Amino acid sequence: MKVLFCACEAVPYAKTGGLADVAGALPAALRRKGLDVRVMMPRYRGINRNGLEPVQQVYSVIGGTALEGAVWMGTSSDGVPHYFLDQPFLYDRGGLYGEGGRDFEDNLVRFAFFCQSALGLMHKTWTPDLVHCHDWHTALIPAYLRAHRNPLPTLFTVHNLAHQGIFPGEQFPLSCLPPETFTPDGLEFYGNVNVMKAGLVYSHALSTVSETYAREIQTEEFGAGLDGLLRARSADLFGILNGVDYALWDPSVDPHIPARYHAGDLAGKARCKAALQQEMDLPVQAYAPLIGTVARLAPQKGFDLVAAALDAIVATGAQVVILGAGEPAFEEAFRAASARFPHQVRVIIGFDEGLAHRIEAGADIFLMPSRFEPSGLNQLYSLRYGTQPVVRRTGGLADSIVDATPENLRLGCANGFVFDDYTPEALVAAIGRAVAAYRDPLLWRSLQQVGMRADFSWDRVAGRYLELYDATVRRAAERPS
Ligand code: ADP
Ligand code: GLC
Repeated sequence: MKVLFCACEAVPYAKTGGLADVAGALPAALRRKGLDVRVMMPRYRGINRNGLEPVQQVYSVIGGTALEGAVWMGTSSDGVPHYFLDQPFLYDRGGLYGEGGRDFEDNLVRFAFFCQSALGLMHKTWTPDLVHCHDWHTALIPAYLRAHRNPLPTLFTVHNLAHQGIFPGEQFPLSCLPPETFTPDGLEFYGNVNVMKAGLVYSHALSTVSETYAREIQTEEFGAGLDGLLRARSADLFGILNGVDYALWDPSVDPHIPARYHAGDLAGKARCKAALQQEMDLPVQAYAPLIGTVARLAPQKGFDLVAAALDAIVATGAQVVILGAGEPAFEEAFRAASARFPHQVRVIIGFDEGLAHRIEAGADIFLMPSRFEPSGLNQLYSLRYGTQPVVRRTGGLADSIVDATPENLRLGCANGFVFDDYTPEALVAAIGRAVAAYRDPLLWRSLQQVGMRADFSWDRVAGRYLELYDATVRRAAERPS
């Protein structure tokens, strides 16, 4: 089966969050299963053309403006062919989706051109058997195919329903879709254009990145205004938890960390912790529980709880290291917290791949108190690094972290600490349990062993995508455009 995998970020070329990790690893795992999967993404600033081959020219008229671009091809180190869409005016910028905390104003044009170009590529250079689209940036592809009566099977994966690509209704012509699609059954959404709806309405099958999130988004609380549509398509909506690329995220091979270690010998972890304390200018104390977190500073991630709970967390004697960038209000709150507790709290504002790995390795406890979390990757990375996660029971966190209740401990399946209520009190109680467990070396050791020996590899997950691709092809055959 030939699959065009369209995503607007992918490791190692461009990354703002977990989508890049997924698009960097899942195609390779699918190729290992024998599929011919190729990735298409924009050529952003920083993706060098050296070593790429020109493939074809593309051309579209969007909102009366003629846009020309070129597709270049390269192969990633794990053997995945990548098509890069080159259009410097649209993509050679200081950010992927925006700059300085603001989205680019022409994002509809930028991603409509990307989707039009994907069609051009499939028409002229390489015709796949299925297109796998990820998030709103690629959601116009299924709509264009439908508009052209092209029955090519399409799967649309939602990584985050909080980002739907909403634009003022007047911009609808920039979507390049026929006017009859600007209705509540199509892209219209309270007078605006909702680009994600194009993917949700016109794809043959839908998926999201955990089973729990697949259920949650069909409720008013988590549906972000699209729960009715998602309920209507419930029979076509699947949930598959993300996997881990253990070539990049495993302390026995990780080049970013100061000492390697594995489940059989954790001595290196103690060295990673001391090095992290030193790097963060915190007292180098082996016995102080070190709580780490790495995340986009967005409301999704539960940082309002962390800010509200910080005094109580610090009172447990723990040290706290936070790496993140995003909303200025969170950045400011955490900078202030860091200044208030200079010996216990360190906040690094920015995006730093190496430090993200060093926190995974050096921390004892990883914090993910998300309000919602479609899948989450850091809790899975933490398990492999022997860093026990404290998470809220939602989305992919609920599907991967097993609370250290007496019952689960007896069964040998506990791997972290889970809380339910979205309140600072519930977070503090869970952290209190984690810190108490940390101070019981035998108990802690057994939690680490369960986590480090678990297998969340993409090779295990890829088989489920194969089944989903087959199901998508069947649906397309049953319901031709
Ligand atoms: P999301 O996609 O919602 O941001 P995930 O847990 O799926 O959440 O994935 C986040 C990915 O982005 C992880 O690989 C994480 O390490 C990385 N990341 C997030 N913020 C930063 C940061 N400030 N510096 C380095 N890496 C980061
Ligand atoms: C999103 C979600 C995150 C998920 C990632 C990759 O950004 O917030 O939970 O892991 O996409 O699927």
